Amino acid sequence: MNEIKTELLVQDLTKEFESGSESLPILSGINLKMNEGNALAVTGPSGSGKSTLLYIIGTLESPTSGTVTISGENPFEKNETELALFRNQSIGFIFQDHHLLPQCNVLENVLLPTLAADQQSAEQEETARQFLDRVGLSHRLTHRPSRLSGGERQRVAVCRALINNPSIILADEPTGNLDQKSANEIGSLLLELCEEQKKILVCVTHSLELAGRFPQKVELTTGTFQSPVFS
Ligand SMILES: Nc1ncnc2c1ncn2[C@@H]1O[C@H](COP(=O)(O)OP(=O)(O)O)[C@@H](O)[C@H]1O
Ligand SMILES: [Mg+2]
Repeated sequence: MNEIKTELLVQDLTKEFESGSESLPILSGINLKMNEGNALAVTGPSGSGKSTLLYIIGTLESPTSGTVTISGENPFEKNETELALFRNQSIGFIFQDHHLLPQCNVLENVLLPTLAADQQSAEQEETARQFLDRVGLSHRLTHRPSRLSGGERQRVAVCRALINNPSIILADEPTGNLDQKSANEIGSLLLELCEEQKKILVCVTHSLELAGRFPQKVELTTGTFQSPVFS
């Protein structure tokens, strides 16, 4: 059986927001082709549309024109239920603020995305434990997020993003609230996981240091960037 290779294809993407009777152009002429194992850093000034681009790739926002194709499928052709399931299975998000649930412990937080598919299993719990062990948090499984440091919370958020084995990892300023050491650790972890597990990783960051560690980086200015070419 041929395994389907993950591919992310963004073609001639534009995004405009309506503001009263005016439309506000945010993105235009975005083209991007990434395969599994590719990692891209996106930099650019505040307000340049970095989060908007990430949300469109992550199927949380729809484009005004142009297409996003993920492994041959156009997610925006799906109905709402299908799209939610597709997002849950295919895309892992990491935000600047970890977005962990305060009332759930570390292990429960990592397992949250598995609830959607109604198929939580002992195997998934074992996977969650393995991820948490991998990021050095196996002694913190029953702790609530409030008892963790910023770097530890972000490590939990990375595990949560990976638990459903998505093919695409999208990170929006994942180290923005961290000290330098924790930021470096999260950066290394994301890059390692991308390579080792053959993910597509798109990471928005203000940190030129973090962006510099990525094999490819683009700067979003005036709503567009020059398409990176991956080897
Ligand atoms: N839902 C929305 N409605 C209207 N304008 C928006 C919306 N989301 C973002 N914007 C505007 O789009 C621009 C880009 O925002 P964003 O993608 O968050 O930029 P960045 O992440 O680079 O700081 C900003 O001017 C922002 O105000
Ligand atoms: Mg942003």
